[in-house]
Amino acid sequence: MQKILTVCLGNICRSPMAQGILRKKISERGMDIKVDSAGTADYHVNEAPDPRSVETLLKYDNDISDLRGRQFITEDFDNFDLIIPMDEDNYGHIIKLARSKEDSRKVKMLMNYLYPGENISVPDPYFGGPEGFDRVYEMIDKATDKLLQDIQR
Ligand code: 4NP
Repeated sequence: MQKILTVCLGNICRSPMAQGILRKKISERGMDIKVDSAGTADYHVNEAPDPRSVETLLKYDNDISDLRGRQFITEDFDNFDLIIPMDEDNYGHIIKLARSKEDSRKVKMLMNYLYPGENISVPDPYFGGPEGFDRVYEMIDKATDKLLQDIQR
């Protein structure tokens, strides 16, 4: 079974949205993939996703209120096949923790599935208004479609 970990800073806005969007697509498509999420920071450990993230996904019949925040740990390199940072800061943070080339090869920025090599970040919506969360949803929705297509090949 493939195992995917999505990663952002706080693990309450972007990466739980990505986890929930992937979880729903995986279930609908009958795929055998496990998905989890983590934050590079420990600010929101054990917290539920930001209410704005929960509400944004509820518009698409997707309930992520069961998810809880946790921090990325080095052992995640052993437990996951793909580690998917949302932005360049998260990417840099995780790459620094990699112990080997094999670890580093697992780390792929989400938007590079749609725009290879461009290193486009999913913007942090935490300090902005609700429209930021809709934009984040659109970006993640498109990129995760491509990610799941790539994995199936
Ligand atoms: P996330 O958003 O990384 O998408 O979960 C953030 C959540 C919390 C904070 C920053 C970003 N914070 O500074 O507490």
